[in-house]
Amino acid sequence: MGGPRPVPPGVLEAKHRAEAAGFDLSCDDGVGRLLACLAAAVPQGGRVLEIGTGAGVGLAWLVSGLGDRLDVEVVSLEKDDALAESAMSAVANWPRRVSIGHGDALEILPLIGVFDLVFADAEGGKTEGLGLTLAAVAPGGMLVVDDMLPKVDDAYHASLWPELQAARETLLSHPEFSSCELDFSSGVILCVRRSASRLKRERDE
Ligand SMILES: C[S@@+](CC[C@H](N)C(=O)[O-])C[C@H]1O[C@@H](n2cnc3c(N)ncnc32)[C@H](O)[C@@H]1O
Repeated sequence: MGGPRPVPPGVLEAKHRAEAAGFDLSCDDGVGRLLACLAAAVPQGGRVLEIGTGAGVGLAWLVSGLGDRLDVEVVSLEKDDALAESAMSAVANWPRRVSIGHGDALEILPLIGVFDLVFADAEGGKTEGLGLTLAAVAPGGMLVVDDMLPKVDDAYHASLWPELQAARETLLSHPEFSSCELDFSSGVILCVRRSASRLKRERDE
């Protein structure tokens, strides 16, 4: 067995930003590596959305998965002024189509269309307004939520537990999505929006 794989330089930079800002809510490396793999599967000309930029760690993992692809648009939403500004200055140096939407995801989501990969990592769009997030997933598109396992000694996470359980139930039982729980890292639910069947498309036309 080899040791842990190296962390991409952009992720390391974002981790340093998080540390300097005292921000401790960045996604785990396990979730980040999953995001990078799924980003690599986004179709030609596709779109990726992150809800909740934080210090940009998850965003850096998503971007790392895209490698040198420039055809994919990446949007990340953050409502905190200081975090959004810090992420915007970092992103300005990245040679690709990445933008930070500064504001409340619940207000922005209805205006920005659909995406092939969505990482919903903020209360807005996850424990509140989950329907808006689901509506932003394109047919065949994927939705990732993390932090779905209990966290020992995290009173804030514990206070959200009822809402997280409600979100879990919605995600796992939604008829338009095929979903599974991945019992690793902080606990992930992965949902894929079913593509409309040919029969249904014909009925709708
Ligand atoms: C768990 S952290 C995000 C971590 C980041 N995705 C990562 O993996 O590094 C959640 C972030 O969502 C932001 N947030 C919370 N509610 C929001 C909302 N309604 N709209 C936009 N951002 C929101 C918070 O300010 C916080 O920075």
